[in-house]
Amino acid sequence: MDAKTAPQPRSGILDIAPYIGGESKAAGAERPIRLASNESALGPSPKAVAAYRALADEIHRYPDGSAAELRAVLGRHNGLDPERIVCGSGSDELIGLLLRCYAGPGDEVLYSRHGFLMYPIGAKAVGATPVAVPEKALTADVDSILAHVTDRTRIVFIANPNNPTGTYLSADEMARLHAGLPSNVVLAIDAAYAEFVNRNDYEPGIGLVNRADNVVMLRTFSKIYALAGLRLGWAYCPPAVADVMNRVRGPFNVTAPALAAGIAAVEDVGALARARAHNDRWLPWFSERLAALGLPLTPSVANFVLAEFPDDPKRSADAAFEFLQSRGILTRKMGAYGLPKHLRITIGTGEEMETVAAAIADFMESA
Ligand SMILES: Cc1ncc(COP(=O)(O)O)c(C=O)c1O
Repeated sequence: MDAKTAPQPRSGILDIAPYIGGESKAAGAERPIRLASNESALGPSPKAVAAYRALADEIHRYPDGSAAELRAVLGRHNGLDPERIVCGSGSDELIGLLLRCYAGPGDEVLYSRHGFLMYPIGAKAVGATPVAVPEKALTADVDSILAHVTDRTRIVFIANPNNPTGTYLSADEMARLHAGLPSNVVLAIDAAYAEFVNRNDYEPGIGLVNRADNVVMLRTFSKIYALAGLRLGWAYCPPAVADVMNRVRGPFNVTAPALAAGIAAVEDVGALARARAHNDRWLPWFSERLAALGLPLTPSVANFVLAEFPDDPKRSADAAFEFLQSRGILTRKMGAYGLPKHLRITIGTGEEMETVAAAIADFMESA
């Protein structure tokens, strides 16, 4: 076919390097240890699984497109106005929706240099220009972000805590960022890992959304609630932003099984507490083990660590990845984030963490 007559995508789309998810298979391993996608170690609440199963006979019905019951439950458990909550098929959908609603060709979308990859990908998809802002010590730098704001800036995305670095901004720093932004710029605080954070100076963003018209908080059921396969996320928004997103989103963008499982998951506060306690125990344990092996870490507050491997090709991150994979352990390479010396490793079960720590010790000794 003549290239001139072939359909052409909108400008920016062919600049996108497609997002590549974490691997799920390791050759030779029947049940690999999967530490590549930050899925929760303990799996979903049995009550969420039961709610999902109970819907099997009803899947010929459309879901409740307003997600009213889930929004009511989220509102009750978090002290929020359900009218200001918008649900989506994972927070990925909500990131894309925000971009479609508030950015387009000629606009700039800011994100911190090692921020979540869906921000630049989503920005390019709507024809906007993603602007990567330098960080300090692999942490978002408020002054640097404010210095990069221009008349064209429409959205600032901050994952807090950030994936893949595991670092976070305190509530005060986030408030300082917000105070420095023009009121027409959306501050999107992506708190996908909020439930794991165990720091007194952290706040997921609810306070800022409550008092500002230009702040949106994004949350997901894929991480601590362990429902990644169902695709469910939510946004807490100023009323005007919720109204805009509701006009643009698909009318049935969240499936009925996802809604049912999400409601049961939020109500199972015991399962949430167990998942938090598990991370509180194994995140420091694993971080200390890696530090003892001489591997520098960024201090993570989420359910994963970012480990830096030596420059030596025998001990590099790539070599470690291959070594671990040969033992049936899947971790995440970080080249796509511009961190080729690092591997990101999710906190799994206690047994999995003992296995991966021992394997990394073998790797460092054998190399
Ligand atoms: C910071 C951040 N935001 C959003 C997401 C996407 O989550 P979801 O599964 O809800 O689309 C992830 C998933 O890794 C993430 O790390």
